[in-house]
Amino acid sequence: MKTEVAIVGAGPAGLLLAHLLARAGVSSIVVESRSREYVAARIRAGILEHSSVELLTEAGLGDRLHAEGDEHRGVYLQWPGARHHLDFVDLAGRSVWVYGQTEVQKDLVAARTAEVVYEVSDTALHDVTTDRPYVTYTDRDGRPGRVDARVVAGCDGSFGPSHASVPGEEFARAYPYSWLGVLADVAPSTDELIYAWHPDGFALHSMRSATVSRLYLQVPNGTDPGQWSDQRIWDALAARLGHGQDGWRLKPGPITEKSVLPMRSHVRTSMRHGSLFLAGDAAHIVPPTGAKGLNLAIADVVLLSRALVALLREHDTRLADSYSDDALRRVWRATHFSWWMTSMLHTSGDPFDAQLQLSQLRWVTSSRAGATGLAENYAGLDLAH
Ligand code: DHB
Repeated sequence: MKTEVAIVGAGPAGLLLAHLLARAGVSSIVVESRSREYVAARIRAGILEHSSVELLTEAGLGDRLHAEGDEHRGVYLQWPGARHHLDFVDLAGRSVWVYGQTEVQKDLVAARTAEVVYEVSDTALHDVTTDRPYVTYTDRDGRPGRVDARVVAGCDGSFGPSHASVPGEEFARAYPYSWLGVLADVAPSTDELIYAWHPDGFALHSMRSATVSRLYLQVPNGTDPGQWSDQRIWDALAARLGHGQDGWRLKPGPITEKSVLPMRSHVRTSMRHGSLFLAGDAAHIVPPTGAKGLNLAIADVVLLSRALVALLREHDTRLADSYSDDALRRVWRATHFSWWMTSMLHTSGDPFDAQLQLSQLRWVTSSRAGATGLAENYAGLDLAH
């Protein structure tokens, strides 16, 4: 097959790139190792920054988001005995939206703008330092396949083959804890997300809809979710989220999904090598605190689609040449913010750390400057930046 852009990976980064390119008249073919059903069912974070919502809306992908998503003005930050609301609209002029990555993925698939070959194996990238790169694979029936292109976009996450074709430095940070995440069929017990510091460990009350809650607990690395019965999970959430504090109650309900998420940070420089461009998790991973992963992928893809349209339509190389530096400025900002939120909220077991965290939380919730910093980073990063 021949196309202008060969895209590896049909997650939100790959499908959104195909969609934006198609709207500008640039052809692409996407190859994906998983099945359409597997990719669609993957559970990820559920918070869209203001600029992500704007972009999806402008790209014609916002109908269901606006009908079914939930706009939030801010979040609660709390620790034992205290709960404070930070109003992002007031502080930074921007809101965030609760709309699951799973739903964004469904909207991208429903748009049918991307030509996707699912369930390929042995995917390999070739000649990426020339202007005739190509991708080979084995299709689901065992037949060899090949996509010849002008450009390859690696949107295949941290386990895909693309990033290994980009030489450069890799910056990494592992965290000494994980999250146990659950989905529950119960109305959220809060109107906006609660980020809770607690001596037993961090807890987060998020949500997916009026009838589905998404909750997280800090757990040690290597935790087996099987050791956490539903009762143990609800008891820990109630303690850490402050059930009974000022009359607030956490309503438990049936847990429908339970899994452990590792916490790590990863940034690869550069995001480009010759005709190969990386976007999303293939180039960087953030720990989940602050929900930046999907938003970063969307921001990368916006920059990359503009760069590729200029390159392939007008033979203008400027945006392609600056893509990696442009994208990495935002990536490092979000990497710092995710690290900062993570470090402020997770218990390390060190009593000195605990006092620093509580002091930081009091400052962020009582100083307008402190609160504005958090709000700008959570809700307000500009796409163009
Ligand atoms: C969610 C995940 C996050 O990491 C976060 O900071 C907020 C919300 C979520 O899955 O809903």
